Amino acid sequence: MTETLSTPAPLGAPPPRETLLEVRNLRTSFQVLDGIVPAVDGISFSLGRGQTLGIVGESGSGKSVTAMTVMRLIDIPPGVIGEGSEVWFDGRELLSLPLREMRRIRGNEIAMIFQEPLTSLNPVLTIGDQIAEQVELHLKVRKKEAWERSIEAIKLVGIPSPERRVKQYPHEMSGGMRQRVMIAMALSCEPKLLIADEPTTALDVTIQAQILELLKTIQQRTGSALMLITHDLGVVAEMVDNVVVMYTGQIVEQGTVEQVLLEPRAPYTMGLIESIPTVEKRGGRLSVISGVVPSPFNLPPACRFEPRCPYRWDRCRRVEPDLYPAGPVQVARCHLHTPEGEGRRQAALETHRANMTAGRAFGKSR
Ligand SMILES: Nc1ncnc2c1ncn2[C@@H]1O[C@H](COP(=O)(O)OP(=O)(O)O)[C@@H](O)[C@H]1O
Ligand code: SF4
Ligand SMILES: [Mg+2]
Repeated sequence: MTETLSTPAPLGAPPPRETLLEVRNLRTSFQVLDGIVPAVDGISFSLGRGQTLGIVGESGSGKSVTAMTVMRLIDIPPGVIGEGSEVWFDGRELLSLPLREMRRIRGNEIAMIFQEPLTSLNPVLTIGDQIAEQVELHLKVRKKEAWERSIEAIKLVGIPSPERRVKQYPHEMSGGMRQRVMIAMALSCEPKLLIADEPTTALDVTIQAQILELLKTIQQRTGSALMLITHDLGVVAEMVDNVVVMYTGQIVEQGTVEQVLLEPRAPYTMGLIESIPTVEKRGGRLSVISGVVPSPFNLPPACRFEPRCPYRWDRCRRVEPDLYPAGPVQVARCHLHTPEGEGRRQAALETHRANMTAGRAFGKSR
């Protein structure tokens, strides 16, 4: 993996101090043999200090590329960062930062947890050595203190007998234990921002719940901000304050977790929520969004969700929708929220409500 080069562009003003991360009009594409893949296509969002943000969307929607761009871990080429893209972190613009400074921020002020911990852990070093090495490097403490801190970190993430565990190698641990180690490593440097990219996808359901609970407890205790990436809206419900929903590299809905989950305004989000297997709906009819995510080389002409949308009309094939206000602090990329969509909007919201109730009623009657 190489690192992203600087983009020479005049920068806007930094965000206010209470904003830890602000992504502005971020565009990351890949030049491949068949053409250009617009993986992240003009997204903007921000995250306050100590706050939590969920980034949700089906596979291929640009979630990981967003995280990797923030970390400056995109290979250039084939990657291209669009002119005018900005990533502000704690008062600095990361995309134009010298690489030396970026390396200091990475793993220190921003830490990342990946889906498969085995590939991100060093197989020939013990767990303790790996955590201690990180701590020594970033916190500039002596070996002995770094080692003590690594035992403490292992204890903090609920791994039993830490004194014995620190001497083990990654392959001697289960997937769940390895992910705990990754969390311990990420948090041992007390980062201001923790990015977790599908941290529990490779684990079984019971372990998933334990790891998420742990992540939340520790995030609250340390005061780190958390950007949680997942394809699972059920996961964000318990974990985050605000949500960004992505589809084909764009944001299609954004708001507080309560608003987005309880009163979704973009048909794509409605479909995702109708597909969550809740306790009430278990065994009931589960609606799964019909159709497939379009190829990046053959995107629909206007609304990118149009071929799959149950509420579409002719305007959706002609005019590209913007992100329109759709609630007190909620936006949705959908013409239903323009004056022309007014009449259809009520009908769509009622259908969504009916779909949710039908699922629940069916589940309860069994
Ligand atoms: N190195 C790369 N070269 C070409 N295309 C890529 C590369 N990395 C990601 N992509 C493409 O970018 C899009 C977004 O990918 P990604 O961010 O990994 O999706 P997600 O994490 O939401 O599943 C996908 O279409 C993917 O195929
Ligand atoms: S703009 Fe039209 S097709 Fe697109 S999500 Fe809204 S209603 Fe559906
Ligand atoms: Mg991903």
